[in-house]
Amino acid sequence: MTHRFDLIIDGGMVATPGGIVAADIGVSGGRIAQIGSLGSSQAVNRYNASGLHVLPGVIDSQCHFREPGNEHKEDLESGSRAAVLGGVTAIFEMPNTNPPTTTRAALDDKLSRARERMHCDYAFYVGASPANIGALSALEQVPGTAGVKAFLGSSTGTLLLDRDEDILAALKAGHRRMAVHSEDEARLNERKSLRVPGDPRSHPLWRDVEVARRCTERVLDLARKAGRRVHILHVTTEEEIELLAQARDVATVETTPQHLTLSAPECYERLGTYAQMNPPIRESRHRDALWRAVEQGVVDVIGSDHAPHTRAEKDKSYPDTPSGMPGVQTLVTILLNHVNAGRLSLERFVDITSTGAARTFGIVGKGRIVRGYDADFTIVDLKAKKRIENSWIASKCGWTPFDGMQTTGWAVATIIRGQTVMRDGALQLSGAGAPVRFLETLEPQGT
Ligand code: DOR
Repeated sequence: MTHRFDLIIDGGMVATPGGIVAADIGVSGGRIAQIGSLGSSQAVNRYNASGLHVLPGVIDSQCHFREPGNEHKEDLESGSRAAVLGGVTAIFEMPNTNPPTTTRAALDDKLSRARERMHCDYAFYVGASPANIGALSALEQVPGTAGVKAFLGSSTGTLLLDRDEDILAALKAGHRRMAVHSEDEARLNERKSLRVPGDPRSHPLWRDVEVARRCTERVLDLARKAGRRVHILHVTTEEEIELLAQARDVATVETTPQHLTLSAPECYERLGTYAQMNPPIRESRHRDALWRAVEQGVVDVIGSDHAPHTRAEKDKSYPDTPSGMPGVQTLVTILLNHVNAGRLSLERFVDITSTGAARTFGIVGKGRIVRGYDADFTIVDLKAKKRIENSWIASKCGWTPFDGMQTTGWAVATIIRGQTVMRDGALQLSGAGAPVRFLETLEPQGT
């Protein structure tokens, strides 16, 4: 009897580790079972991918989904719906919720809220605070955790770990790569008076290059002292790229689609407080440096820093407005648009949106189209042209800084462990997300 696959994706151009090749993919039991020519094979379901590219499922390792505490901005269901509609197959969620994810109870609560409600795969970060340093090594071992995240400068929420001795103690408290928001709290406090009421153009003057550079230099030094790997989230400055290019022993680097796409002062003039985020969007010399870092491989990972706030909150007057913008749904099309414009190769797209996250965080069975890996695919039409509209945004905030922008290159299907969760822009399957597994927290299986 011939083998019958659960799913065959046929006729597409497939991004394999060996190159982008014409191939069919056979899926069994949620895993990739065969890659090659499967024309004569049987399957329960088929997806005709002719004219399309089949990429490893996009992993967004920085999302703020606001549950619990601020469900009026987002919740785990709406945030993960935005993710899969945009072509994202897995997300890591940030700990600055209310309460923050700093205890075992808060982490267990998020894991149980996610079950049967999240549409994509997920993991939750544990937040570091001076009060929970002693608990971090146990917390980072809980399956379903992406590791520890520390805010070294204050942003949205109450989490803060700004004193060198606390940062060092937190770094010494565990082993997994620790993610950091790198802005220097002391300098932020010294410069608060530079915020001009009503003028968000002053946001990057307050949170200036030196705020970011100094903090990144400090944390690299502390990471080396502790012998601990760090992941520097949303890097925004040319100066940090120089430091980070010399720190490949201890650090990995994330940047965001918005820092690669928008620039100051234009974004503040056009979008006002809707362009306000931490660390800020800066002038084009930094954007150019980030692009060089993407091209040269200094950037390991793209995260959207999806940080929804309502229009009512954003419509207040600066600086009473919260920092952050949504992004999980627009990540894929914004970056594919850069692919089409010749700024990014499709191979680099795959690396920074999928393989890089798997490598950086030690994800089990994701990030590559390889036999035995999870059958997670972002299927894209590189030629599709559409306008990004606020009305398309599934996030509860209902807006995007990219409203009105025409982009070329869109996700047409999101397939997670062999299940088609999104097809042609419509949700096909609800609540099938599962925790992402990590090499460093693998549990024994079987008896
Ligand atoms: O702009 C930001 N918004 N940066 C952060 O670090 C947090 C985020 C949020 O949660 O709103």
